[in-house]
Amino acid sequence: MSAPTSAAATGSYDVANTTWGGVAGELARLEAQAALSFEEELRIMRDLGLTREGPLLELGAGSGAVTRRLRAAEPRLPVIALDVDAGLLRNAGGCGAPLVTADGARLPLRTGSVGGVLLRYVLQHVRDPAPVLAEALRVLRPGGRIVVVEVDSMLWGLADPMYPELASVHATMAQAQRGAGGDRQIGRKLTRLLRGGGFDDVVLRPFATTNDTHPTAAFAPHLGPERLAPLVASGALPMSGLALAADRWRRFLADPDAWVMLLGFVVAGTAPYGPAQHSPEGSTS
Ligand SMILES: C[S@@+](CC[C@H](N)C(=O)[O-])C[C@H]1O[C@@H](n2cnc3c(N)ncnc32)[C@H](O)[C@@H]1O
Repeated sequence: MSAPTSAAATGSYDVANTTWGGVAGELARLEAQAALSFEEELRIMRDLGLTREGPLLELGAGSGAVTRRLRAAEPRLPVIALDVDAGLLRNAGGCGAPLVTADGARLPLRTGSVGGVLLRYVLQHVRDPAPVLAEALRVLRPGGRIVVVEVDSMLWGLADPMYPELASVHATMAQAQRGAGGDRQIGRKLTRLLRGGGFDDVVLRPFATTNDTHPTAAFAPHLGPERLAPLVASGALPMSGLALAADRWRRFLADPDAWVMLLGFVVAGTAPYGPAQHSPEGSTS
């Protein structure tokens, strides 16, 4: 099943203009982003029951950076990799997950046909999360889990030393994403979005990734200046802003005492049992 990629469907995500180096640069960035925090995310996903029952629908799987890791960590869990961008999704091939090209707001899957849904760094890019969550709820079996992994630009973490002079650069980036229909402050809204979308048992689990356990350079997908280059190309950020960010990132990398903690959010919910259905524990909900 395939659907054309449109700006309306992808919202603020533009694979060729997210970082420098075009599509190849973005493939590398997605890979580095998954390598940095996937282990911690997986621990929480397992705790929250996402990997208990398949198939797991990875909605917005992109290049498969997480699909491959999920398949390696949970070889018995069937995973379906779905994305609106067929070209990007092609990179997820070869790891045993069927690839489906579709808009998350119009899933070509039967009602009640999946055991779990994962949305990682997807909702911050969609214009309206509600129809995507409604579709996730429809395709989940009663009792199935949804897990959303996201960030919030005002609670992104902590860097020491920090550079207050970069505040306007980061504000420009958030503004650009908002202008394109995305929301880098989605983290604080997730629990209410899931509850409002009809999910039960909504829980929030923050997670932290630090350079105590990863090299500082591994934080480049989040802290490095690469993602600012397209903003310079579009005229949203002056060259001086990019130069400032690049200089501070170099200083940070060279500082043996520099410490960084990246804060992420995992929010989970459960597809409710209908009035005539009973949960495994025997209670109706
Ligand atoms: C930042 S990437 C994250 C990719 C992957 N989840 C990961 O963590 O590596 C966002 C992905 O969401 C996809 N996406 C955005 N809007 C979508 C929609 N309406 N339906 C399906 N996928 C969508 C994009 O095409 C892109 O692959």
